[in-house]
This record gives sequence, structure tokens and C-alpha cells, in this order.
Amino acid sequence: MNNKTVKLAVFASGTGSNFHAILKDKSLRKHIALLISDRPGARAIEIAKRYDIPTFVFNPKDFKNKIAYEEQIKQEIDSREIDLMILAGYMRLIGDTLLSVYEGKIINIHPSYLPNFPGKDAIGQALRAEVDTTGVTIHYVDSGMDTGPIISQEEVLITKEDTLESLTRKIQAVEHRLYPKVIKQLMEDLT
Ligand code: GRF
Repeated sequence: MNNKTVKLAVFASGTGSNFHAILKDKSLRKHIALLISDRPGARAIEIAKRYDIPTFVFNPKDFKNKIAYEEQIKQEIDSREIDLMILAGYMRLIGDTLLSVYEGKIINIHPSYLPNFPGKDAIGQALRAEVDTTGVTIHYVDSGMDTGPIISQEEVLITKEDTLESLTRKIQAVEHRLYPKVIKQLMEDLT
């Protein structure tokens, strides 16, 4: 596959600062073929519109169950011939409908040095545990919560002065640098 043809889909439920960081990288921008969001009204959708990225936005409540909305996502992914799926603050576990077909092609970013502090509020968990370091992890997605094979990690130091806000800023700065870099490396492996 020629690198030019690699197509990426980003999944985001919220603010989309990682999505934005990926889009700001001009060499990645042209590969983003779709934004998928499970939250109508998410800021990430506005960002997609600003950059003319097609969106698939759904409300899970409009579907009978997870299988039903993941079938719909699968159709979007297949019809657009997506090669790599990038979770960037997508607040749902990926189910078997997608994993059975695309495992190894779905990656996630998590704001801790996994396996420490998986799940929700990872930054708050690290602060409450009074550890000296936390970090950022990029990993393949499997059926567990933040358990898939690790692709890349970076440590972030916690100081005594750190608050949830300051530590979040430090972690996000690392995320916004590391995610685009890792995505580019994975794209090279796909070509
Ligand atoms: C990031 O911290 C990411 O690690 C986690 O969700 C957050 C998403 O933030 N999975 P944003 O929507 O990209 O700003």
C-alpha cells in the first residue's frame, strides 16, 4: 500500500484536543478520512467541520444495543476503506462486532503509564496515589479496559505542587506530541 492511500478514522467523545493535535500535523491531516463520535454536540465534531473532515455521529440511545451501533460503525469503516482506527477520548469499550474484524488496527491513548491507573480519571487516580510519576500510554485495543499490547509510553513527573489541572496540562502536552509521532510510525508499517 502506498503511504498516500492510508486512511485513518478517529473516534472521539469529548473535547478532541488529541484529534486536533493530529489534524494540526499537516502530513497526517490528509489521511484523516472520518471522525466518529458517540456524543452529538461533542467539541470534536466542531473541529472536524472546521477541517472539512466527514463525520459519523450517533447517539447510542437510538440503537437497540452495542452490536447495532457497532454494525453501523463497521459499515462506515468498510465503505471508506479505513486502515487504522484511532481512539482519542472515545469513552466506550470496543465490542466484539468491531474487534473480531479489526483487532490490531485499533489504537488508544491513555493518560497514565499502564498498567498503572487504567480506566476513568487516570490522572486523579495517580494524584490520589501520591506517586512520583505517571505518564502516557499508546496501546492496541483489546476487549479489556486499557489492557491491550503497549506500543509506546512516556513518563510524566508529578511534583508536590501539581493539581489535577496542572498535571492534566503536562500529560496533554505529552499526548499531543506522542500520538501524532506514533501514528506516523504505524502508518509506515502499513505501507
Ligand atoms: C485524553 O487524556 C486521552 O488520553 C483519554 O481521553 C482524553 C481525551 O482528551 N483517552 P481529548 O478529548 O483528546 O482532549
